[in-house]
Amino acid sequence: MEKLKGPIAVFDSGYGGLTVLDKIRTVLPEYDYIYLGDNARSPYGTRSFDVVYDYTLQAVEKLFAMGAHLVILACNTASAKALRNIQQNDLPRIDANRRVLGVIRPSVEVINELSHSKHVGILGTVGTIQSNSYPLEIKKLFPQMIVTQEACPMWVPLVENNEFRNDGADFFVKQHIDQLLEADPMVDTVILGCTHYPLLLPKIKKHLPDNIKVVEQGEIVALSLQHYLTRHPEMDDKCTKNGSVRFFTTESVEKFKQTAEVFFKGALHVEHLVL
Ligand code: DGL
Repeated sequence: MEKLKGPIAVFDSGYGGLTVLDKIRTVLPEYDYIYLGDNARSPYGTRSFDVVYDYTLQAVEKLFAMGAHLVILACNTASAKALRNIQQNDLPRIDANRRVLGVIRPSVEVINELSHSKHVGILGTVGTIQSNSYPLEIKKLFPQMIVTQEACPMWVPLVENNEFRNDGADFFVKQHIDQLLEADPMVDTVILGCTHYPLLLPKIKKHLPDNIKVVEQGEIVALSLQHYLTRHPEMDDKCTKNGSVRFFTTESVEKFKQTAEVFFKGALHVEHLVL
């Protein structure tokens, strides 16, 4: 029989979504969560539209089967390449009462207040940048905004391979920040359009001029989820609230623990899962 209540699910291609889950748990500690990292098939950022859509749909169906009624795609690449299709074509077929939410729209909503020059920079994976999801979403809300994008293909591998604190990472961080600011020196606000990037924040801040604001998605997505649950009591009723969190990875459990525990406080209970 279908479970009437379940945890909130948070999905990412790998570790990046943990930066979002961390903030979600700070804002909404009473809920139960399941986190799924598709580490075995990460990174998604260099994969084609169809592949990211297929992988994301598999994950969403699995998380629904595990009892979640609400799935957060804490991955910009999946939000850019799969969210709309899943919402429009798959949810009505799977279960019209379940929901899948992404991270792009909430991140875009805040920029008008932050930017004075109305020149915004987007840093993201190749997939997110090529999808043009950010410029399209920004134009809908703030047509006057000038948007410049920069794909940073090396940044996710630096995080996934636990190299993000090492000196070698500086080269790639500086390279893309310089390229973005060369393309538009008037940028005063930069969106970290990939949930892996907050782990590189100390280096990003080191190479970015002090007057440029950095938009991290974790807290924005957490507050947006809180708002969503307040506006949708019927969904809130379907979410169990015992303050628990369970982690699942498609890769090795040990490997996941080692990297995830570096930035997600406390010992993690991790289970292997096949998609
Ligand atoms: N965290 C994902 C994102 O936000 C990483 C993408 C990847 O796996 O390349 O885009």
